Amino acid sequence: MQEEGIEFEVKEIFYNTEMRFCRSISSLCVGALAEKLNILDGFCASGIRGIRYAKENSNVTIVTSLDYSKKAINQAKKNAKKNKIEKANFVCEDFNKYLINGENEFNFIEIDPFGTPVPYLYSVFYSMQNKKEFYISLTATDTAVLCGHESKACLKNYHSKNLNNEFTHENGLRILIKRILETTGEFNFGIEPLFSLSDRHYLKVILKCEKTAVKADECWKKIGFTSFCSSCGWRKSGKRIINYCEKCKRQTDYGGPLWLGELQNKKIIGKMIKLNSKRDYADKKELEKTLNLIKNEIGFHPYYYDVHQLARRQGWKELPKIDELIEKVGKKGIKAVRTHFSPIAIKTDAEL
Ligand SMILES: C[S@@+](CC[C@H](N)C(=O)[O-])C[C@H]1O[C@@H](n2cnc3c(N)ncnc32)[C@H](O)[C@@H]1O
Ligand SMILES: [Zn+2]
Repeated sequence: MQEEGIEFEVKEIFYNTEMRFCRSISSLCVGALAEKLNILDGFCASGIRGIRYAKENSNVTIVTSLDYSKKAINQAKKNAKKNKIEKANFVCEDFNKYLINGENEFNFIEIDPFGTPVPYLYSVFYSMQNKKEFYISLTATDTAVLCGHESKACLKNYHSKNLNNEFTHENGLRILIKRILETTGEFNFGIEPLFSLSDRHYLKVILKCEKTAVKADECWKKIGFTSFCSSCGWRKSGKRIINYCEKCKRQTDYGGPLWLGELQNKKIIGKMIKLNSKRDYADKKELEKTLNLIKNEIGFHPYYYDVHQLARRQGWKELPKIDELIEKVGKKGIKAVRTHFSPIAIKTDAEL
């Protein structure tokens, strides 16, 4: 196999070519962090993620690849050797057992399991409880739970009600971040999402965790709900659920509790854009486009408007071109931008 100039083998080991984009964008975020990084690639499979982080970023000092599959670890070892990754460790163990039992020196932990990352959160914060700060990078592929029709499973695993509507992907991402906070709170860590992404079948978030009671308390102030009227499309986020639509007075639905704070750190996203321009990734153009959309989303409400739904509800005869709609709204002095969450949606300061 080949990915971004790295040759590796994946005999009977999990490898998804479609996640190349995710590995590239995550590697840009790793490179955008100022610190030297000691990385635990917690669900390494072939080891490709850790190999890429180490090869592409000079701030990565050492990568420990962990997987409970012997086959995976043997393969990851061979792949690292083939790619001359010198500072590499390998651990064949269950992720939780390893972190709960050991002392660790990591300051960046990658959680890329099958499905939900939730069962692995406690061991991360337990094992890091004496650290001042560190980073975690999580992938969730259980989008049917966070964003779709699996509302019972969402309550059970994420302790929140999902909202299977037109901005469900942003809601799902915000529920995931809230769920991380539920575990960090016990250990007095505050979190700051540095980079968040909704792409294809997965959600991704890279966060900075800082151990101070003040930061942890501040984070909880950013937890709330988004109320939504499926009749007229009205929505509002805040501390409380609003039971009746403020526009058409009909009964509303809601999503939450969820994270209402920023999803991105402007500086980090800016650095990622610069780094991408210097690298020759196969997905360079798509990465640039996504990162610019993400950058422009900063500061807007924690939801977006699907233009097709908007047109249907408003009874518009023609579907407006998204760029023209943004321009028209802009002429009224109201900000509006495209969003990475959906090619047919906008984020705007405008009222419905
Ligand atoms: C989605 S794959 C990882 C993909 C890889 N990070 C990549 O970018 O190609 C998940 C991997 O986690 C491993 N795994 C699943 N549960 C685990 C656990 N509890 N502890 C350690 N490894 C686990 C599986 O053996 C599998 O190789
Ligand atoms: Zn309404």
